Amino acid sequence: MSIELAGVSRVFRGPAARRITAIRDLDLVVAEGSAVAVMGPSGSGKSTLLQLVGGLDEPTAGTVRTGGVEWVGLRGRRLAEFRRSVGFVFQQFNLLPGLTVLDNVLVSMVGAPAREARKQALVALELVGMAACRNVLPAELSGGEQQRVAIARAVVNRPAVLLADEPTGALDTATGFAVVDLLLGLRDEAGATVLIATHDYAVAARCERIVTLRDGGIVSDLWMGAAADPAATAERVRSFRPADS
Ligand SMILES: Nc1ncnc2c1ncn2[C@@H]1O[C@H](COP(=O)(O)OP(=O)(O)O)[C@@H](O)[C@H]1O
Ligand SMILES: [Mg+2]
Repeated sequence: MSIELAGVSRVFRGPAARRITAIRDLDLVVAEGSAVAVMGPSGSGKSTLLQLVGGLDEPTAGTVRTGGVEWVGLRGRRLAEFRRSVGFVFQQFNLLPGLTVLDNVLVSMVGAPAREARKQALVALELVGMAACRNVLPAELSGGEQQRVAIARAVVNRPAVLLADEPTGALDTATGFAVVDLLLGLRDEAGATVLIATHDYAVAARCERIVTLRDGGIVSDLWMGAAADPAATAERVRSFRPADS
């Protein structure tokens, strides 16, 4: 699915009625099947942007279309359908500690018949190399393994859009790369559109496009081309400074 934001703003009410503009009049078009890194300092609006795209938060102004459909205003079955078409991966994995690996994947499969759901959950765990750990609790796994399970949970419904909010932030470099390779591999395989919010230039350089936010607006939009050399791209991005800094 493509992602289109037009004139999108998200204003929060802070303490003492102070208005916090997390996203400011933002226009962005992401082609179906592309992988885009979202960079920018803390507080620049990365998480808010992903939440607006994924239907976890409503814009104050503007329109967000995913696959040509505006999700704000959807109800009932169509809203449920939209939610199933989006997968989320978070920095802190967000697995349920009291549930096994398999059950953590199954929780995102409401509606599917039990036997079919179990089969699909195992396929997803197989995909991320975690099927052997299906009966283990999250606490028994390393951070990288927990993130693999979280990715299985995110992709089990075969989402058309995969949103990852600092997915490598809690992992060491090598494990983080493996997680990004996995996310991009799933993109290649399933044709999903992927947005990865990250602070890590080396992670961003694996995507074919890097959008950088500052104060809720886009300050740079770099396109790499599929054959870009990640090391050269990382250097190019690192040396880039927006005009106003
Ligand atoms: N629920 C909220 N209530 C009030 N302010 C918020 C809320 N969520 C985010 N913000 C503010 O919006 C801005 C952007 O936040 P965020 O999208 O989390 O940025 P990032 O992910 O780039 O660190 C920050 O100033 C943050 O404090
Ligand atoms: Mg964030």
